[in-house]
Amino acid sequence: MARDFFTMDDFDLSGRTVLLRVDINSPIDPGTGALLNDARIREHLTTIRELRHSKVALLAHQSRPGKDDFTTLEVHAERIGALLGRPVRYVSSLFGRPAIEAIEAMRPGDVVVLENTRFYSEEEALADAKLEKMAKTHIVQRLAPHADYFVLDAFAAAHRAQPSLVGFCEVLPSLAGRVMERELTMLGRAVQDPARPKIALLGGVKADDSIAVARHMLEQDLVDTVLTSGGVANLFLDAAGFDPGAATTDFMRREVSDYDAHRAMCKELLEKFRRRVLLPSDVVLNDRGEREAIPVSMLPAKLPIYDIGLDTIARYVEQIRRAKTIFFNGPAGVFELEPFSVGTRELLAAIAEADGFSIVGGGHTVAAVEQFGLQDRIDHVSTGGGALINFLAGKELPLVTALKRSYKKFGKTAK
Ligand code: 3PG
Repeated sequence: MARDFFTMDDFDLSGRTVLLRVDINSPIDPGTGALLNDARIREHLTTIRELRHSKVALLAHQSRPGKDDFTTLEVHAERIGALLGRPVRYVSSLFGRPAIEAIEAMRPGDVVVLENTRFYSEEEALADAKLEKMAKTHIVQRLAPHADYFVLDAFAAAHRAQPSLVGFCEVLPSLAGRVMERELTMLGRAVQDPARPKIALLGGVKADDSIAVARHMLEQDLVDTVLTSGGVANLFLDAAGFDPGAATTDFMRREVSDYDAHRAMCKELLEKFRRRVLLPSDVVLNDRGEREAIPVSMLPAKLPIYDIGLDTIARYVEQIRRAKTIFFNGPAGVFELEPFSVGTRELLAAIAEADGFSIVGGGHTVAAVEQFGLQDRIDHVSTGGGALINFLAGKELPLVTALKRSYKKFGKTAK
């Protein structure tokens, strides 16, 4: 397949200043600020190491405004340095004077980590604006003159059109980094495979994204069945008339923007695709740290839902065994707490054993895969969550579009 975007093979980047946009959005302990998992950081090491003769200014985001893990990138910089075995400087500025001075002071081999791009209002306010407009933001206009190339490696954010992700592609020759390149190649292969049944297991708390994806995949017949768990299932259960109870819905209302509208969407999907959307038949409540399983018919519950129950696990495992292609995005429960890791662990273990081609993705999901030591038994562990699913649903990803535009614009500058 002919490539219509640049990769790191197309330019000699030695001695040059490179803006490297990665996605190292990682689980962080809100209490201590400690990094709970560095899987995404480790993924990007290939790209960072390959740039060891360049001057690298690294851009990234962490979480979203208002969330309790919305923090600076200081711990990320420390971890990158520890993994590379050399100091990596963190600057608490994205495009202010300290950032520019740090970039100008770099020597080949240096890596500077700039501040969380989402601390700056342009990043969110101009999301989805026209590329030309994003190229005119302060983020782009202040940084681009100090760089020679933009390396876009943030596959996990490939579905987010935000200035720090796509704005530079208009003004600098922009190349896919190694993570981006590998993901596009692997996922492209999976999508073209016509084998059926195809199933999608959607969990986690980013339920708003997952619902849109479920709808697209079902309507376009890209999967035969959607199996819900985690926060996604809580919303679907509510839509199906099983009120989870205030302890769960209060949490969901904080996590999902416009909860009622999303619940209405779930209801519509359930009416339209009744047999193709599976809901948990039992859930596990958190009773002072202990599992308390109940059938969904016993909802609402005073205690919060923390996992799916054994009956649900058995039903889902059966579907996993029969599937030819399996997509898994978002954990089935609060797997970080041992007693509530059962659902996520059993589903992932079944996927690891299944004959079907398996694609697993999402920041927290990858952390779970690693926690259970299953990473080598899954066909492709993607760095992407929403990006992965959007790609698999056949949607054009804004970051890929931007890379293609940059290729057309700067085509003559390649070596
Ligand atoms: C992710 O974790 O999926 C990416 O970093 C994108 O994060 P977002 O959904 O907050 O934009």
